[in-house]
Amino acid sequence: MQNALKVIQDSINGLTLEKCVFSAPREKSSETRSIILMPVKDEKEIKVEFRLQKHNDIKTLKKDVFIKDELVNALRDFKQVHIKNLDSDIQILLNKKLKAKIITKKIDTKNSPPKHNKEKKYLIPDGVPCAFLTEIGVMDNKGRVKPNYYKKFRQINRFLELVDDLYKNESMESFHAVDFGCGKSYLTFALYHYFVNIKKTNAKITGIDLKQEVIDHCNEVAQKVNFEGLHFAHGFIHDFKTDEAVDFVVTLHACDTATDDAILFSLRNKASKMMFVPCCQHELNKQLENSESAIMLKHGIFKDRMCSLVTDTMRSQLLEVCGFKVQSMEFISLEHTAKNIMLRCVKSDRSEKQRQDILSKYNDFKSQWSINPYLEKKLIEEKFI
Ligand SMILES: C[S@@+](CC[C@H](N)C(=O)[O-])C[C@H]1O[C@@H](n2cnc3c(N)ncnc32)[C@H](O)[C@@H]1O
Repeated sequence: MQNALKVIQDSINGLTLEKCVFSAPREKSSETRSIILMPVKDEKEIKVEFRLQKHNDIKTLKKDVFIKDELVNALRDFKQVHIKNLDSDIQILLNKKLKAKIITKKIDTKNSPPKHNKEKKYLIPDGVPCAFLTEIGVMDNKGRVKPNYYKKFRQINRFLELVDDLYKNESMESFHAVDFGCGKSYLTFALYHYFVNIKKTNAKITGIDLKQEVIDHCNEVAQKVNFEGLHFAHGFIHDFKTDEAVDFVVTLHACDTATDDAILFSLRNKASKMMFVPCCQHELNKQLENSESAIMLKHGIFKDRMCSLVTDTMRSQLLEVCGFKVQSMEFISLEHTAKNIMLRCVKSDRSEKQRQDILSKYNDFKSQWSINPYLEKKLIEEKFI
């Protein structure tokens, strides 16, 4: 059993553990059916889930306490242990005499750092301490990305690459951005880091979200990492107003017409660049009709997808009418969803004739799908089109 103890202990103490499951209780009547260990943000602790007959008991314990007080008993009580590390898959089978058979397989999971991670020139590199990423738990104190945060780390860098494409050739003394529906604000912090620490700009960034507790937490983190120009405020996108000039508006994964409210804010405040990743485009679902596509629209799931495409096409074309060049591209979503399209918009010059052509194509498209969108109504009401 000692060799099994050592393997489990090494995995618990290492940085590559994803999950460790003790299963197949030795006693059939045992109250505890299985025990699951998972890493948490604090490297000294571990989440321990005891799956009992009628309920689950979840605790976060110090790793050394679990190893000292629970590990030997767990090994005595269960016949199997499965350890999933980022780079290995280990099966431990214990016989009646607690003699362990250990089978180790090397694996390559999609969570593991790609071999080229260190060579690829990320705007925020792995292995170099970055205060805000350490504070929000993505990196450890030595600047190494924690195993469970590689997806997040790649998303942050992908986002910054898309921002850098817009700003790398611009030198600005000051800069003001608003991030609507900022949520936990990993990307808002990254945006501030990019403009202040990489581009050396005097940046002010405001994050807005309707969840007060999220806003309080983000303000605390901003203070801790001395991001002086980064502030978070509680509120709804459609209510938010500011008299200050705004250069850049970001709205990532805010639901339904929240993206339209962010577009309207950007136009009112004359932002010259914007990034939107729309989400849950419900508004047009009840309106969408097209006799030639009836065989598609009768399927709810196809209709949902088409609704997203029609909504984002409508938004892109209306933004073009308002004088923006719009690019659509794939972002990295954290969930495996189709809600992963980014609209990246840059103010450009358009003649009145060009605007009218674009508007007329929009009107053809609109009648083809029998839609009367909120965004168009508001743009007319506020005389943007
Ligand atoms: C899925 S989270 C996305 C968080 C972050 N932007 C990201 O992409 O990682 C969406 C956030 O938008 C906020 N939200 C949605 N609609 C909103 C609205 N109308 N006004 C303000 N916040 C909104 C939600 O509270 C939530 O925190």
